[in-house]
Amino acid sequence: MSEKYDVVVIGAGPAGYVAAIRCAQLGLNVACIDEWRNPQGEFSLGGTCLNVGCIPSKALLESSHLFASAKNEFKDHGISVKSPAIDVPAMMARKDQVVKELTQGISGLFKANKVVMLNGHARLSQGKKVKVMERGGKKVIQTLEAENIIIASGSSPVQLAQAPLKEDYIVDSAGALAFDSVPKRLGVVGAGAIGLELGSVWSRLGSEVVIIEALDEFLPAADKQVSRAAARSFKKQGLDIRLSARLLSATVKNKEVQVTYEDNRGAQQVVFDKLVVAVGRKPNSDTMFTDEMELEMDERAFVHVNEYCETSVPGIYAIGDLVRGPMLAHKGSEEGIMVAERIAGQQSSVNYDLVPSVIYTHPEVAWAGKTEAACEMAGIPVNTGVFPMAASGRAKAMAATEGLVKIVAHKETDRVLGVHIFAAQASELIAQAVTAMEMQASAEDIALTMFAHPTLSESLHEAALAVHKRAIHIKN
Ligand code: FAD
Ligand code: NAI
Repeated sequence: MSEKYDVVVIGAGPAGYVAAIRCAQLGLNVACIDEWRNPQGEFSLGGTCLNVGCIPSKALLESSHLFASAKNEFKDHGISVKSPAIDVPAMMARKDQVVKELTQGISGLFKANKVVMLNGHARLSQGKKVKVMERGGKKVIQTLEAENIIIASGSSPVQLAQAPLKEDYIVDSAGALAFDSVPKRLGVVGAGAIGLELGSVWSRLGSEVVIIEALDEFLPAADKQVSRAAARSFKKQGLDIRLSARLLSATVKNKEVQVTYEDNRGAQQVVFDKLVVAVGRKPNSDTMFTDEMELEMDERAFVHVNEYCETSVPGIYAIGDLVRGPMLAHKGSEEGIMVAERIAGQQSSVNYDLVPSVIYTHPEVAWAGKTEAACEMAGIPVNTGVFPMAASGRAKAMAATEGLVKIVAHKETDRVLGVHIFAAQASELIAQAVTAMEMQASAEDIALTMFAHPTLSESLHEAALAVHKRAIHIKN
């Protein structure tokens, strides 16, 4: 006998758990299946994001930022501390506690919303049936049937044949969030979000960090002014980012990782104590479906969906990292809400043009909407306004004068098309820009808005004024 539900959600990451809660809020009878186990072997909700992604990385970024401040900046404030030292196990214990509280929080939210939580590996078969299997996928614990199925099985790190993982030496991002001491020489393959964030963590704590990046351009998706400023700043901080560097091999010998890569000058060799492979993630679509399931996939194994996350089978939806678009928690969560509401008969949609991107370095990189270069390529005439953080009173008081805020606005309509930031707290500043763009604001609208003084947000105001060459605190 199979149990019947209105909706079964597979995966309790930020896409799946949010979808399940929204379904329950809308009065649907919903079950959510997840197989994630923490290092203690206990089931743990929240998927990659809460267990080994967004949250633990931000906990370590915070700890390492405080350590670097104590070491390098406290003295400027007249604060003297004895040479600060880092206790890595204590820092990790704090991170683990943050993760534990948040993952347990999801269980609490499921209970409060009456979402039925099932632990185990889900396999989807024809007729909208879902089998919940024991670990290893051999024994069926339960079979469920549902009118609607939302697949949110997420993604896993891409592995490189040239650098096979080897415990304690060659690790993925989860491994780099759990080092037990500060490696003296740390190599990172990939200068993407993970490489920059985790590279920053360990560099602030004292590692010599070399990042090997295959592309010849740094942060190609970001605005050029922003990526140039970020590259300069990261170099100054000690991140040795080597572009046009193609990894050839990584092997462990005599407790060292010996890496060979090729750049414009030929083959190069470098030795590390540890190597982190952070070259992207791939969708978890390989063990989810039984053979008879006919779900359309794209060539990179993402489940194929339309703009409403409907798959090729009516009543089956796929969301989050498993489908096209940026692999970001907030994108998956918004898709989860959209799908839940559409199942409940509402006409919800996601605005894919305004998914904010943030890299949580210091300063942070954040953007939303179109870059100036993308507008140029598309033949869209624009005006831009740039405000340097060095001219912000609050940034000066915070000793956070690196970076800039840039607004790209349509030349004729003045509508804000993109906002690009490299600044302290850019992750918070970008939310104001996204709100304005969602409301279809013009640069003039932002310019006419009153911002509290002294705040970093005033830089967004000044950048909007600069679009019309009337910024107050810089020469236009
Ligand atoms: P996931 O979070 O991967 O969750 C999928 C869940 O499904 C997992 O719990 C998995 O166990 C479960 N599952 C899979 N298959 C099955 C099955 N067959 N049966 C049962 N359960 C199954 N994004 C941001 O937006 N901001 C950040 O700051 C950020 N930082 C990151 C830092 C790191 C180090 C990493 C690795 C990622 C980071 N991300 C960040 C990306 C973010 O974690 C993902 O985009 C997000 O977790 C995707 O959510 P999801 O729900 O689609 O999948
Ligand atoms: P990524 O796609 O952001 O970056 C991977 C980088 O590795 C790219 O620059 C790529 O050119 C490079 N690369 C690929 N193969 C290579 C090779 N063989 N040699 C050298 N370089 C190579 O992927 P990343 O950093 O692994 O992150 C995975 C996902 O997690 C991303 O989609 C990201 O959105 C998400 N994430 C988001 C964060 C955030 O929002 N702050 C933080 C961390 C991860």
